[in-house]
Amino acid sequence: MSLVPVNELLKLAEAGGYAVGAFNCNNMEIVQAIIAAAEAENAPVIMQASQGAIKYAGVDYIAVMAKLAAEQANVPVALHLDHGTSFEQVVRCIRAGFSSVMIDGSKLPLAENIALTRRVIDVARAVGVSVEAELGKIGGTEDDVTVSEREALFTDPAEAGVFVSETGVDALAVAVGTAHGRYKGTPELDFPRLEKIKSIVKIPIVLHGSSGLPDEAVREAIRLGVRKVNIDTDIREKFTAAARKVLESNPREIDPRKVLASARDAATEVIREKIRIFGCANKAKKGDI
Ligand code: G3H
Ligand code: 13P
Ligand code: ZN
Repeated sequence: MSLVPVNELLKLAEAGGYAVGAFNCNNMEIVQAIIAAAEAENAPVIMQASQGAIKYAGVDYIAVMAKLAAEQANVPVALHLDHGTSFEQVVRCIRAGFSSVMIDGSKLPLAENIALTRRVIDVARAVGVSVEAELGKIGGTEDDVTVSEREALFTDPAEAGVFVSETGVDALAVAVGTAHGRYKGTPELDFPRLEKIKSIVKIPIVLHGSSGLPDEAVREAIRLGVRKVNIDTDIREKFTAAARKVLESNPREIDPRKVLASARDAATEVIREKIRIFGCANKAKKGDI
């Protein structure tokens, strides 16, 4: 199967009341882990490349790996640009074969975020690529901000309504209490805000910073309309811990394949668990896409 646009997967998720996992990939082993997990769970899956992944592996390497993975897979696979920084980067990724892009104009004033998102949609639609945008600022767990400072950056439901009707974007990433990276305490999600956003905005909602959230919080967010759940940190943690374990138990190991095979298996396991939590297992029925 060739790469499919994310919005095709999210339409089915909307109808089925589940969420599709969007897993960040940085190297071949993580690409393989994502596919192995999706196949084992018979689930559609989104692979995504962050700015860090692009810097580390390069757009073309990621695109080639994902295209091959999708062709060989017996489940639907999308390749998505995560937190795209500019119109030029979006075009670069589309040319390389990405089937979906995120343009992150969340740091811009509303009118500029709308204008940038519309410009991206104009080119993406012409070539069948779907578009995610962000409204509100999600930020990182390492950001030195108080809870009330973070809350001031949450997505405003009325603004979300304006943003979606003026852009026609396919999916919207919202700030409702999650943050990228490892949480220090237990994160509190603003479910009433999410519910309000979803009552105004009739498109799939994207939850970023989903590593480390309690499973029940993720399930509740999905019940309230989240259809794409982004996971990066949990994969990196399990991958690195498994590699460290091999090296600690055999400090003389010199074969990277032994280290990376364990890391890949650990990544596969955590991705499988996430897919099950998202209600996405067994949703890759043939003929759906
Ligand atoms: O956007 C969220 C990613 O988890 C950041 O990943 O460090 O690879 O850019 P990165
Ligand atoms: P985590 O690293 O917190 O899982 O966030 C991933 C993410 O939102 C990628 O866009
Ligand atoms: Zn993110």
